Amino acid sequence: MKNTVVLYGSTTGNTETIAKTIARELDAAIFDVATQPTSEIHKYQNLVLGTSTLGIGDLQDDWDAFLPAFKKTELAGKKIALFGLGDADMYPDSFVDGMGIIYKAIRDKGCIIIGQTDIDGYDFDDSSALVDGKFVGLPLDEDNQSDLTDERIESWVEQIKREFD
Ligand SMILES: Cc1cc2nc3c(=O)[nH]c(=O)nc-3n(C[C@H](O)[C@H](O)[C@H](O)COP(=O)(O)O)c2cc1C
Repeated sequence: MKNTVVLYGSTTGNTETIAKTIARELDAAIFDVATQPTSEIHKYQNLVLGTSTLGIGDLQDDWDAFLPAFKKTELAGKKIALFGLGDADMYPDSFVDGMGIIYKAIRDKGCIIIGQTDIDGYDFDDSSALVDGKFVGLPLDEDNQSDLTDERIESWVEQIKREFD
């Protein structure tokens, strides 16, 4: 999908690895938010945003620095899918909160957020990435459930391909 880009921020490399897989499966461009200016974003109609969660429920550092400029870019009419890396065993009360932080920053920008997923199969207590009992995007837990990652990505990529323009 030539009109699609994956934007990711990654501290220890997990989100980067997943972003590469998703970009390959979508045949999409890929940007690291640590190095990429927002000026290229207007070229793409479909965006996939991937982040990890650090601290206790904090957005990944590069995303944290990128988000103010990203919020100022024109997102109206674009279709956006989110994925988030987290650790439900160590951080059960802030599971994939980074994904929730990005969601809240963009939900009123006129974009269409797609790719919501069910909570089934995840063992956590709370997450700011939940809306109406569903995750706002795809959570992945490389620390505890890496064996499920491939099938989760495969099914989610099929889902977002159907919903993207
Ligand atoms: C210091 C630290 C704090 C973390 N805090 C959270 C958290 O609050 N919620 C969560 O779901 N995961 C948390 N994690 C887990 C990471 O999000 C997870 O390991 C992720 O795969 C890292 O991805 P990255 O290598 O792309 O940064 C934390 C990890 C570390 C090392």
